[in-house]
Amino acid sequence: MKFALVLLGLAALATADAASCDPTKCVLPDCRCPGTDIPGGMDIQNIPQMVYFTFDDAITAENFGKYESSFFHRKNPDGCPMSATYFVSHEYTDYSKLHQLHAHGHEIALHSITHTSMSDYWRNLPVEEHLKEFGGEKVLISKFGNIPEEDIKGLRLPLLQLSGNNSFIAANQIGLSYDCSWPSRQFVEPGLWPYTLDSGATHDCPLGDCPTNLQLPGFWVSPMVMWFDDINVSCSMVDACTNIPDDVDGIFKFMLRNFELQYKGNKSPFGVYMHAAWFGQRANAFEAFNKFLDHLESLDDVYVTSVGRGLNWVKNPKNLQNLDDVWSKCQHTYEPVCNSQVCKLFKGVEERYMTVCGECPNEYPWLENPLGD
Ligand SMILES: *[C@@H]1O[C@H](CO)[C@@H](O)[C@H](O)[C@H]1NC(C)=O
Ligand SMILES: *[C@@H]1O[C@H](CO)[C@@H](O)[C@H](O)[C@H]1NC(C)=O
Ligand SMILES: [Zn+2]
Repeated sequence: MKFALVLLGLAALATADAASCDPTKCVLPDCRCPGTDIPGGMDIQNIPQMVYFTFDDAITAENFGKYESSFFHRKNPDGCPMSATYFVSHEYTDYSKLHQLHAHGHEIALHSITHTSMSDYWRNLPVEEHLKEFGGEKVLISKFGNIPEEDIKGLRLPLLQLSGNNSFIAANQIGLSYDCSWPSRQFVEPGLWPYTLDSGATHDCPLGDCPTNLQLPGFWVSPMVMWFDDINVSCSMVDACTNIPDDVDGIFKFMLRNFELQYKGNKSPFGVYMHAAWFGQRANAFEAFNKFLDHLESLDDVYVTSVGRGLNWVKNPKNLQNLDDVWSKCQHTYEPVCNSQVCKLFKGVEERYMTVCGECPNEYPWLENPLGD
């Protein structure tokens, strides 16, 4: 049964594709064709189920408290700490908190400087402007959060609004290794695994303006396999799923049902993609979220890992007994090194307080001036 489903997935993928990818030429660790097949042809019984928690937008003292209380004490089956990925937008971010998340082994990734809320802006944005939004943000975060630029590997576009090839070309130019903005509705059962853009082959495009025939060797698409709410409406972000219960148990079951589509399927990475704002918008969401984390922590083949670390497994798949070979040790953690300052600055005529590690910038960092010189 499972085998038949996998074949069906591949057949559909082939017809969805203009370009084709030759799996005999495109091989791991640096190339993978789009597909629902398990990387390296591994045995499903023997691989970890990876779970990606990602949080978009500003890191603030308030949401940091939620991340800290949910994650910092939890461990994966190998004894290493769980980690999540933060797609950070610049405005209102507290860079000393960002630094603390990084020091605890969490992944910091990009979500733009301006975080403009009009989808047309992102849909029509040329490569050069993407370079300013994301290349600029990489420099900005590294400086004010006091973290190495090379640890910043991925991006998510605001509103998940792709612009054809443009954001991918820019991401590749600024040395990122993956995008996590592109949903798949077609490849949920079984789920789509991450793949590279070597051959131009891609997957379904439910929200529009996807790359066409773009070849970027070694650049990874980490697809956002969609969830389904309780009346089967698809949603790319958990907080965009509207038809769900209000009580803790109901929300928990909704999360569990979506998780099990992957866990009892082909174990493609299960993404819990959300904004911390969800916890404020929906009573009981935070409690249900922690109940779900408790459940994941009780499963001995489930690893809650950042997207970047998860990709290391996809490139170099190992069975549960040999995970040390890919995640050699626990992720790097350290005592925070942030001499934090609260800087009073102006964005135009509006006051902005910006907490940074180290010296305050002279001006509020923005598109043309990410270091605020
Ligand atoms: C994307 O890039 C590919 C390869 O260069 C090209 O064939 C295609 O037309 C581009 N698509 C758009 C929308 O520019
Ligand atoms: C949603 O889809 C699943 C699987 O296709 C089906 O079993 C279930 O009955 C559907 N639920 C609703 C409310 O349509
Ligand atoms: Zn956002």
